[in-house]
Amino acid sequence: MVTGGAGFIGSNFVQQAVAAGDAVVNIDLLTYAGNLENLANLDGVPHHELVRADICDGEAIAAVFRQHRPRAIVHFAAESHVDRSIVSPDAFVRTNVHGTFTLLEQARKYWGELSEEDRGVFRFLHVSTDEVYGSLRPEEPAFTEASAYAPNSPYAASKAASDHLVRAYHHTYGLPTLITNCSNNYGPFQFPEKLIPLVILNALEGKSLPVYGDGGNVRDWLFVGDHCGAIRVVLERGCPGATYNIGGNSERANLDVVRAICALVDEIRPDPGIGNRSSLIRFVPDRPGHDRRYAIDASKIARELGWRPTTRFEEGLRQTVAWYLEHARWVEDVRSGAYREWIRLNYEQRAVR
Ligand code: NAD
Ligand code: TYD
Repeated sequence: MVTGGAGFIGSNFVQQAVAAGDAVVNIDLLTYAGNLENLANLDGVPHHELVRADICDGEAIAAVFRQHRPRAIVHFAAESHVDRSIVSPDAFVRTNVHGTFTLLEQARKYWGELSEEDRGVFRFLHVSTDEVYGSLRPEEPAFTEASAYAPNSPYAASKAASDHLVRAYHHTYGLPTLITNCSNNYGPFQFPEKLIPLVILNALEGKSLPVYGDGGNVRDWLFVGDHCGAIRVVLERGCPGATYNIGGNSERANLDVVRAICALVDEIRPDPGIGNRSSLIRFVPDRPGHDRRYAIDASKIARELGWRPTTRFEEGLRQTVAWYLEHARWVEDVRSGAYREWIRLNYEQRAVR
């Protein structure tokens, strides 16, 4: 059972799982971030079923458990965009906290009624973020699984709360849970409100490229396919109750990421009318409470489970730029009314046009 499998990472994960022959029941509410086009090639594939449901709806979740009797649940469904969490945090608390709680409750009931053998193999894997650990200074070591939680945005706080609930369900009830805390993902099918796809599309069209603050904020970037591979490894071999940090060993300042995208778009789609895309960069008012730096120490998952990222950032970014340039119809469909409304809300106040 996958939740949020019509979103960015979830759909990439579902594609990998189905390709590997796994049967997947995919629960997704299809919010603005969920997109059936991400799964269009799975139409008619018998071992994938999409159920449109809200993870806060305990009855609907119980019905899926009853009907599909899953061996594991991989929980992606969430409100995931920090800027939206600043503008309207309610949905983040509802889906990320109450939704995760509802899933845990239903999983606990289902798991409690399994045979001893089936109880032993069941897993509840909760997909989380490095943002729960807060912000690092330049000289500080990367986050480990032992780093203290210090979430700074409503998004990070809601994910931290959900991590704590998952941990408590293992400690109190023995539910075989796993938590993964991953750095920033990029790749195909990411909704273009996030930095990398937003900049690719604006650069393509000759629009302004909004860089918050001084552009010196640092993120660690991981190609989405590598993240999905790591989740599969944790699901197979992770120790129940454990947390695994997942990262790409690719710390980059935002301004460097934006410049790298400009160079790739200039190379792949030169446009004399636009000229050098880096001339489109605009420094705009910063995000309130903007975390300065995230960095992941992923040595535990390497040591214990043998997983390492395989896609170099420069290579993954080239593939990602190429994907967005080749998927004009997907882009057009996704930039619906809801998307335009968000762009207006977030960037007009920053005076970006
Ligand atoms: P996304 O916003 O692209 O997708 C979220 C999906 O969840 C959408 O399909 C949406 O329809 C669905 N959803 C939202 N609310 C729901 C609800 N109440 N019930 C059922 N479905 C609902 O998110 P993403 O970027 O793919 O992130 C997936 C998970 O990975 C999240 O839990 C996020 O916190 C975590 N994560 C993301 C990143 C990243 O860089 N994107 C990094 C680390 C961890
Ligand atoms: P984002 O993709 O929203 O991910 P997160 O906030 O979860 O790290 O943003 C990545 C970085 O890029 C973050 O430091 C904020 C910055 N950013 C901009 O500078 N301009 C933008 O228009 C956006 C969306 C993000």
